[in-house]
Amino acid sequence: MFYYYTVQITYYGHACFGVNVAGKNLLFDPFIRPNELAKHVDVSTIPADYIFLSHGHFDHMADALEIANRTGAAIISNYEVVTWFEKQGAKKTHPMNPGGKWKFKFGSAKLVAAVHSSSMPDGTYGGSPGGFVIDSAEGNFYYSGDTALTMDMQLIPLTCGKLNVALLPIGDNFTMGIDDAIIASDFVKCDKVIGLHYDTFGYIKIDKDEAKQKFAAKGKELLLLNIGETIEL
Ligand code: NI
Ligand code: MN
Repeated sequence: MFYYYTVQITYYGHACFGVNVAGKNLLFDPFIRPNELAKHVDVSTIPADYIFLSHGHFDHMADALEIANRTGAAIISNYEVVTWFEKQGAKKTHPMNPGGKWKFKFGSAKLVAAVHSSSMPDGTYGGSPGGFVIDSAEGNFYYSGDTALTMDMQLIPLTCGKLNVALLPIGDNFTMGIDDAIIASDFVKCDKVIGLHYDTFGYIKIDKDEAKQKFAAKGKELLLLNIGETIEL
């Protein structure tokens, strides 16, 4: 009998991705209903066993509680974000903080440093922003969340397994732009990048062809998924 191990990645717009790995559905930074570009996505059918939140900003967690309540998924984020969601009624949660790793049913998740800010929609302190490195038998990937280019990214290849893909912001203004994301892909030693945090609103509109060409000129691949599109790695 043959088993084909794959990682399936679905883009739900802005910084939101669903990843199916080892039979579990991981959902990152759900912001779908308020996103004009994602109007065709039916939030009520998105599967989730785990909801990872990189930080407390609205454009990363607007749909998190509703999806958690429907699916029974655990909300995983930094301690302050998780505590805030518990106060909103979230039943299943898992608090982490930068540098920490935990073994889940699909593999492990490590919360890694991000340079950004984090506050909840009501102004509550949102802890340290972070990214996640997911290690599994089917593949490894880095979801950076919102971040600047940071030297700390060089720690990822030293402390985690070889990445199959890195999901990085490319929209500039609030996060890294394209040129810094190319350097980030050097730092994390992964030449296959999926872009996030672009085009959703005015400050972060990009020229997608130019972005892809810039990556290609460095021998790297930039994948920009259509909203609703699923790819297999
Ligand atoms: Ni943010
Ligand atoms: Mn953001």
